[in-house]
Amino acid sequence: MTSYKELGLVNTREMFAKAIKGGYAIPAFNFNTMEQMQAIVQAAVETKSPVIMQVSKGARNYANGTILRYMAQGAVEYAKELGCPNPQIALHLDHGDSFEICKECIDNGFSSVMFDGSALPYEENIAITKKVVEYAHQYDVTVEAELGVLAGVEDEVSAAESHYTRPEEVEDFSKRSGCDSLAISIGTSHGAYKFTPEQCTRDPKTGKLVPPPLAFDILHEIEKRIPGFPIVLHGSSSVPQDEVDTINKFGGKLPDAVGIPEEQLREASKSAVCKINIDSDSRLAMTAAIRKHLAENPSHFDPRQYLKPARENMKKMYVHKIVNVLGSDNKL
Ligand code: G3H
Ligand code: 13P
Ligand code: ZN
Repeated sequence: MTSYKELGLVNTREMFAKAIKGGYAIPAFNFNTMEQMQAIVQAAVETKSPVIMQVSKGARNYANGTILRYMAQGAVEYAKELGCPNPQIALHLDHGDSFEICKECIDNGFSSVMFDGSALPYEENIAITKKVVEYAHQYDVTVEAELGVLAGVEDEVSAAESHYTRPEEVEDFSKRSGCDSLAISIGTSHGAYKFTPEQCTRDPKTGKLVPPPLAFDILHEIEKRIPGFPIVLHGSSSVPQDEVDTINKFGGKLPDAVGIPEEQLREASKSAVCKINIDSDSRLAMTAAIRKHLAENPSHFDPRQYLKPARENMKKMYVHKIVNVLGSDNKL
């Protein structure tokens, strides 16, 4: 058993309490590679922001869970080296799909876990979430649960259709499961294709898709029913069109990729939404920089030559999200 406290990590309880009071949201960035980890830490330190570094099943399959855990430990030490004596970094399991994986992560030094029972029948979701909570709380690890289903397809997370969270269920669910935060479905979805062209309108000037708005009425109804309870938004990449254009210009093919407009995420951050998950935007920033670099420097073959601009581009994106969208800067 390794406690996250020995690694210098923190759980999400205090982060969320402050974020709700302060009207901002904590960034939850997925990481799979050393460059993503470095860029996240550099951005968090530069902006003096708390940050959640999260690990998906796909990340564990790609990079190995043990390596990722040590990378998070390295992240804390790296933040200190960059001049932040008390970094607020949580290591979070993203979309845990069983009690066993949640337990394994808690035992290995994660400070926060998600049990995603959103595809299960309601009572089963409550029962397993409760079991995870009972185990996690013995070690002061915080637990995120999910009610409602997000559409979208990622490597390990997929659902054909979304079902908005039913506000009338959230009070019962949060009380009986004992979860510390609740991910809800109000129209966000995973991946770089959050809406089909049919669900959008088109900007006549740019020809770009304009997505439908998030269901803020449902969010506000949920806030009323569980005042002050931490709400989480998954699938919140905005799919920056400049990155999409760069990818397409240098040989990529991402037609009609579209995300959640940043103004809507900014608005959500001011509410009880206190954790916003961003993964795809990091993938886009990395891929755009690598494609551009290799197209402009065809003789380069040392990965450091193209991973350096990729890391810089991701850092720029993380800083932008923290400062201009979530508002979590200067909150340490
Ligand atoms: O929620 C999904 C995350 O973007 C993780 O995706 O399983 O492909 O790593 P992944
Ligand atoms: P995006 O695909 O919108 O980045 O969502 C990531 C996410 O929700 C991770 O859990
Ligand atoms: Zn997610």
